[in-house]
Amino acid sequence: MKDTEPTLRPMTQADVADVLSLSDRCVGKGLYSAEKLRALLRRTASVCLVLRTADGVLAGYCLTYLADIAEAAALTKLPPAALRALSPAREPRVGICKSLGTEAAFRGKGLGCRLQNTCADALFALGADFLLGVAWRKGYHIPVRGILERLGFCYLRDSEHVWYDEPGLACPYCGETRCVCPAAIFVRKRGEGA
Ligand SMILES: CC(C)(COP(=O)(O)OP(=O)(O)OC[C@H]1O[C@@H](n2cnc3c(N)ncnc32)[C@H](O)[C@@H]1OP(=O)(O)O)[C@@H](O)C(=O)NCCC(=O)NCCS
Repeated sequence: MKDTEPTLRPMTQADVADVLSLSDRCVGKGLYSAEKLRALLRRTASVCLVLRTADGVLAGYCLTYLADIAEAAALTKLPPAALRALSPAREPRVGICKSLGTEAAFRGKGLGCRLQNTCADALFALGADFLLGVAWRKGYHIPVRGILERLGFCYLRDSEHVWYDEPGLACPYCGETRCVCPAAIFVRKRGEGA
């Protein structure tokens, strides 16, 4: 089993098409475009990882990056003051855990946890004061809750209409032309957690 375990490595431009296809199946078609993913990889402080098997199958991906309070507030649709209050830093740097997905055949083996944990460590190493996990809530079910809590994240609050302004997203849960699912926001502060 060990030698068939997928290998973790930084995502590159060559991974974009496969990550797009997996994310379309994981979180809803159209949330990302190739251009959005390429732009994310070009950011100086992004940490995006993929897991691939020895024969090249994409088993999972995790997309994260560092942001300032204004960008984090715009993304999470939370008031800047509520985010600023999470850190004593003058200008807190926020590690945004944007998206995590694993291929159905590879789930329940700890791979999602491994991807998220490695990104979290890298974001703190880059200087994040705290991390925000932006988690999809499907009614009462939050698919990444177990992973985030296992890694020391705590539930902060829900936020409404986080994906409402993603014009291309066909949400498989709410089914609306503009997604009305809330996000559950989780936080992990520097020095806390796993
Ligand atoms: C949510 C998702 C990323 C989880 O990926 P995964 O590879 O199955 O994740 P893991 O195997 O690490 O964790 C799954 C569960 O197994 C547990 N687990 C099992 N073996 C484990 C191990 N060896 N190490 C760590 N955790 C393990 C985890 O704690 C977690 O518990 P939970 O069921 O309470 O959540 C995956 O199911 C997915 O892509 N779903 C569709 C997309 C989605 O909903 N993404 C979230 C958007 S915010």
